[in-house]
Amino acid sequence: MELCVALDRPSLDENLELVNIIKAHDLWLKIGFRSYIRDGKRIIDELKNINPSFKIFLDLKLYDIPNTMADASEEIADLGIDMFNVHASAGQRAMTTVMERLKKRENRPLVLGVTALTSFDNREFIDVYGSPIPKKGIQFAKDSFESGLDGVVSSVFESNSIKENTSSSFLTLTPGIRPFGESSDDQKRVGNIYVARNQRVDFIVVGRPIYNSEDPKGSVEKILTELSTSESKSCEI
Ligand code: C5P
Repeated sequence: MELCVALDRPSLDENLELVNIIKAHDLWLKIGFRSYIRDGKRIIDELKNINPSFKIFLDLKLYDIPNTMADASEEIADLGIDMFNVHASAGQRAMTTVMERLKKRENRPLVLGVTALTSFDNREFIDVYGSPIPKKGIQFAKDSFESGLDGVVSSVFESNSIKENTSSSFLTLTPGIRPFGESSDDQKRVGNIYVARNQRVDFIVVGRPIYNSEDPKGSVEKILTELSTSESKSCEI
């Protein structure tokens, strides 16, 4: 299981300040709407300057007509990032078109489908999608798998079921992680590291519990230590 730190600070300088504090670790870093709309490609270049081994997840959740999504995916691949995502609710034709375009490239980024945003509770999700999260979320995961994506973004509670309905190697990335039970903020479906391990999650995304903590470096190290202990525990089983 890998740690992906969400860079959602209010300015480029504050994001870079955070990254400089944690740069000793070859982490995954998540650039979302806020940072990318404000800073564009510059933030990617600055992060790679700080540590070329950082892996970058560009969390822009594409949703548009198939051709526009595929065009945007090619532009994203040209940025040299390592992973990005699209909304699975954009449909199988859109996702397949994206993958057809990207597979012509030698080093394409990983592509994930967003199933259900972790800020939705079941009632809100039904209002938008007409079915409950456990049912529709799995359907979105199956659609992503059949369209050739590498994995999905889901809540921590759906990861096992997604793997059982697709493949154990189909990646799951889960935001809404409060590693040691910190405040859930605006997230509705949050879980800790132990839940994530039991759910065979591949990437945990952690934002506020790290950057709002008094000691972000200490927080990252505590999480990494727990993850490596978890890995060795699961190897022993
Ligand atoms: O601060 P926190 O740990 O809640 O940050 C979670 C991050 O993951 C935010 O950047 C949020 O936009 C993102 N995200 C999410 N739920 C999704 C997909 C992405 O919370 N389904």
